[in-house]
Amino acid sequence: MAFALTPEREQQVDDVLTRYPERRAALLPILWLCQRQNGWISPDVVEYVAERLELSTSIVKGVVTFYTMFFDEPVGENVVWVCRTLSCDLRGGKAIQERLESKLGCKAGHTSSDGKFTLLKAECLAACGQAPMVQINDHYYENLDLELLDRIIDTHAAKGAEAAAAEFSTFASFRAPTGGEAGDRNSVSSAPPPPSREAVRLASQPPPPADERGDES
Ligand code: FES
Repeated sequence: MAFALTPEREQQVDDVLTRYPERRAALLPILWLCQRQNGWISPDVVEYVAERLELSTSIVKGVVTFYTMFFDEPVGENVVWVCRTLSCDLRGGKAIQERLESKLGCKAGHTSSDGKFTLLKAECLAACGQAPMVQINDHYYENLDLELLDRIIDTHAAKGAEAAAAEFSTFASFRAPTGGEAGDRNSVSSAPPPPSREAVRLASQPPPPADERGDES
């Protein structure tokens, strides 16, 4: 059966299309909408997007296979990205990967037998200062050690992704181009992204005395 978006998502596609002078410029956000609904970019999703944006299927496929964030084959309920670039590796990234493989029962690049987790290796996820880290779905888990990693995975398995994110995630990494919040497959919001931890730390500090700020009187 041909792929179809829900009426709400169709409305979101219409909204996205109004933001760009050329239809093809909406390719990434519309692929996101489709992946959020379907879980992966299947061949019928490629056909749907190509038709909707008046593109060839080879152009759509080329984009899907270029970006690692799009899945061109089915994945598990949760996708775990383990960062294996230098900063994370220097701080135990290999051991983190090995512990994940042992806990999930599958090698990197594969899905656990219960279909709950797909484990993938990632290039730098831009959280080097908090290495080692993993991304699970839309959330970052940073400054990991094996004991903390065990607790995160156990909480995921026992209570679900949102409970684990609420308890352990340092922040949500993903913000949907349509305005949807991280981890929320349905809502549309115009709220600004949350402040970084550094911004929160700086905001909580008292201002320096006027003579140190060089204020002119
Ligand atoms: S090396 Fe892992 S986040 Fe940059």
